Amino acid sequence: MVDLQLLKARFTELHRQSPRLFSAPGRVNLIGEHTDYNDGFVLPIAIDLRTFVAGAPRSDTKIVVHSLAFDQTLEFDLSEPGRARRGTWLDFVEGTARALLARGFPIAGANLLIESDVPAGAGLSASAALELSVGYALASLGGTMNPDPLTLALAGQSAEHEYVGTQCGIMDQYISALAQQDRALLIDCRSLTFEPISLQLGNACVLICDTRVKHELSSSAYNERRRQCEAGVLEIARQRPNVRALRDVTVAEFEALAPRLPPLIERRCRHVVNEDQRTLAAARALASGQLVELGRLMSASHASLRDDYEVSCVELDEAVLAVSDTPGVYGSRMTGGGFGGCTVTVLEREAVPRAVRSISERLRTRFEIDPQFFATNACAGVAEEFESA
Ligand code: GLA
Repeated sequence: MVDLQLLKARFTELHRQSPRLFSAPGRVNLIGEHTDYNDGFVLPIAIDLRTFVAGAPRSDTKIVVHSLAFDQTLEFDLSEPGRARRGTWLDFVEGTARALLARGFPIAGANLLIESDVPAGAGLSASAALELSVGYALASLGGTMNPDPLTLALAGQSAEHEYVGTQCGIMDQYISALAQQDRALLIDCRSLTFEPISLQLGNACVLICDTRVKHELSSSAYNERRRQCEAGVLEIARQRPNVRALRDVTVAEFEALAPRLPPLIERRCRHVVNEDQRTLAAARALASGQLVELGRLMSASHASLRDDYEVSCVELDEAVLAVSDTPGVYGSRMTGGGFGGCTVTVLEREAVPRAVRSISERLRTRFEIDPQFFATNACAGVAEEFESA
């Protein structure tokens, strides 16, 4: 846990100024994977792990940022042209600052100090948490009161697209910006609106397992999946001119059109079309406490990501398989972009030790991996930290 008093004290020591504090959460997606960039539906929650930014204005136009995790200070000057793709964590910060400027926010020079308990590279959206906490901090320090969270989310996404070079969808930044406590958000990634879904979990909870593997493929394969979906849409639109994205195709329509698609594109699109329907059904199941149904949909999502979308990996499959017969487990699946990272499991609280043991044993025996576990609540999105400061 980040100690806010200590963070504040470090900042004062470094800059002889008293900072304001801001934070934004990481996320876990319950279901709705690789649907966001297809204008579809996702169902994430923000998790208990957050990134914190201490910040205060400067009298010049520099943004000077110290990361405690990297033990490194980096800076850029707002009066100079932006420099995309330096290949360091500054890309997330500068990309967000420039995107906010482009959206008309009065961003001024600032000193920032960053600390996070979102593990980097685990697929829990450490980068969105960084973009949102920095974005909120810079907008607030520049004089904007209560900056609009959706605009901050879009600025974070354009930092990814333009400065980092990842063609991500909007899910991660959106949930980090707009998350609500004790609720998942059913996000419509076309209209950018959401429905809060209260978590009717009874005695069950959400368990995250970080397999701590990261396969190199992930960003090139991610962009490739996007292109394959676009290729599918082009083909489908020849028959159905109203189709703009896979979101516009029902399961029945898709199955009628599927034979016209090349086999690989067909499988990619089948995942997305079905995943949208699973996500809508899962939101209803979650809201009404039908956990068996929720679990069934989560398991079907994993199978589809593994077999049709091919973004899982042996370690994630093993972690999911390890709890498939565990009493008290409703469902388990990979979460996030894939090729490593985490699984998410919905299970009875009393089943947590059993599930942890089963996954740990299987991953240790087969891959010599020591996974990390987090039981999480659904938390609120980006905010300024007042009371504990
Ligand atoms: C990553 C991206 C998201 C989303 C997921 C897959 O987390 O950042 O936009 O596409 O992968 O669902």
